[in-house]
Amino acid sequence: MLKLRKLLPARAAAPLLTALAGLGICGAAQAQTYPVKPITLVVPFAAGGPTDVLARIMGERMGRSMGQTVVVENTTGAAGSIGVGRVAHAAADGYTVSIGHWSTHVVNGAIYQLNYDLLKDLDPVAQIASNPQLVVSNNSVPAKDLKELSAWVKANQDKVSVGTAGVGAASHIGGIYYQNFIGAKLTFIPYRGTGPALQDLIAGQIQLMFDQASNSLPQVRAGKVRGYAVTQKTRLGSAPEIPTVDEAGAPGLYMAVWHGLWVPHGTPKAAAARLEAAAQEALADPAVSKRLFEMGQEIPGKEFQTPEGLAKFQKAEIDKWWPLIKAANIKVE
Ligand code: MLT
Repeated sequence: MLKLRKLLPARAAAPLLTALAGLGICGAAQAQTYPVKPITLVVPFAAGGPTDVLARIMGERMGRSMGQTVVVENTTGAAGSIGVGRVAHAAADGYTVSIGHWSTHVVNGAIYQLNYDLLKDLDPVAQIASNPQLVVSNNSVPAKDLKELSAWVKANQDKVSVGTAGVGAASHIGGIYYQNFIGAKLTFIPYRGTGPALQDLIAGQIQLMFDQASNSLPQVRAGKVRGYAVTQKTRLGSAPEIPTVDEAGAPGLYMAVWHGLWVPHGTPKAAAARLEAAAQEALADPAVSKRLFEMGQEIPGKEFQTPEGLAKFQKAEIDKWWPLIKAANIKVE
């Protein structure tokens, strides 16, 4: 293979090596040259939402370190389960990558009849970032804090619509926990992602959202929606003015939406390792980490930025959440 490389200029050798690899003649050669063409990063939610924005930040930086473009593709629907399926069934060659999170790669397995197995058909690459949710409302809602909001929601529950990214999405589960917490029955409106849902919240089509901080923080800062509480134990470093759920009157209503990267099962180890290294390089870049911090995203420890770290974490989350989600009897209607 090295001889072939010496004989041909790099540009001519690359497609030939890929073709040989495709015929099963030289898998090692493909691994050495990977990536020789653009990589597709499949976002299972709408453009402009939290997963999409994270994908674009990571994709741009990872592409730079791999010397190839990372193309973001939005394959949406059914709380992200369609987009994840697109990757689970794609060729295991390193050119199709799944970005997803707690609900797409954990919760969906307990709610949907998936035609793929979240653990067996996808190989973890790295965990990348985690953010809590914000309880946010349209500005016309007459509540100054979470306690007032809960009282208002309970009194007006037949008029309150909550925007979600589909049945089982993080934004939906957050809303279900909240309605159970305050003892109300709310109407959930599914969107193809919380990007478009947030636009409808600003416009007043819906009243409430349990939205990833990275999505709604800019709109809270701009005064376009009202942010009541952050669903974690500590305030956000980049938005210390927003109280925690414990402080604001909904103790323990925690929700962490962690994101990761996966490839189809059987992807050559060297290709997966290249993606892993590029993800780690992106997360170590001060410009990327500053942007993520401002959005309310936290970068996981280095031990989680690995296939082993993500695999262990995802399995533990499945063991923890599946019984809870199944007991909550959340159904696709
Ligand atoms: C999205 O990108 O739309 C979100 O990740 C969906 C969600 O938070 O439920």
